[in-house]
Amino acid sequence: MKRFLDLADLQREEVQELLDLARRLEAHPEPQALAGKILGMVFFNPSLRTLASFQAGMAKLGGTSFVITPGQGTWQLETRLGAVMNGAAAEHVREGIPVLASYCDALGIRAFADGKDLRYDLAETAFNAMAAVVDKPLVNLESAVNHPCQALADWKTMDDLGVPRNAKFVLSWVWHPRALPLAVPAATTHMAAMRGMEVVVLRPEGFALPPQIMEKARAAAALSGGSVRETSDRREALEGAQVLYAKEWGSTTYYGDAAADGELRARLTDWCVRNDWFAHAALDCRLMHCLPVRRNTAVADEVLDGPRSVVQREAYNRLTVQMAVLYKLLKGI
Ligand code: CP
Repeated sequence: MKRFLDLADLQREEVQELLDLARRLEAHPEPQALAGKILGMVFFNPSLRTLASFQAGMAKLGGTSFVITPGQGTWQLETRLGAVMNGAAAEHVREGIPVLASYCDALGIRAFADGKDLRYDLAETAFNAMAAVVDKPLVNLESAVNHPCQALADWKTMDDLGVPRNAKFVLSWVWHPRALPLAVPAATTHMAAMRGMEVVVLRPEGFALPPQIMEKARAAAALSGGSVRETSDRREALEGAQVLYAKEWGSTTYYGDAAADGELRARLTDWCVRNDWFAHAALDCRLMHCLPVRRNTAVADEVLDGPRSVVQREAYNRLTVQMAVLYKLLKGI
């Protein structure tokens, strides 16, 4: 494996191999496996889990890491191709990213969606511009419309908990004070479809996932035996659900229009997951969320602190699956 950018680049068997390796490294640690290896990470956006779990994972495998947050103690980096650089950015990623790659054995990049132009974001324009100048193993630490590390961790979490491969998986939009990117909704829908699940995307009008994201998930479902559909009917969606995955995202009808998005979401504050959402779900229906989550706006205390919540296990599994990814990338086997 040379790059870990998208679960869609892997066959199901290759995902299974990564999950098996993650379990093996959990049971039989290899503290010298990556001795002498360096992971570089560039974070254009904040992080708690991704940053800490990759650093911890490299340390547990005997390697080391460095972290760059452009503009915070380092030069601000320009990502737009063809930009006239008369603003704040002192350096372009076309120079800065290959320089950083030359100092390490693998590079990770986090670059969220611009949130202005849906086509620009769906094309992963900024991330791809950087990926094009990296000649080392590369990891997507979350891009405009993808978060493969989160998706892999969530797949393992469901396996750990014995959630059947063909279970009903509901990804539900939940409230947030502002528009958030489509990376996790897109990656999660695709992951659950690839896992073979009955995937239902539950969202209010104005928040439908873009056709490209749905088509990619449906293509994965066609290979796995799963299915993917969308609805705004909460009661029908949650009937018999075995997983409720809560996530916030911006209006796709008003993408890049903060005022129109804000007006639409102002009427949707009841999209906060409470215990009564599970009234018709499976008895053991789990609550998943990638974190960070805002309590009592997106998910109520009663759910996050209750037995359905598996958010801590998801976050822990970021460490276990990323160690497997690093092992594969850096040991070359
Ligand atoms: N879920 C996730 O990627 O968390 P961070 O943004 O804290 O890295």
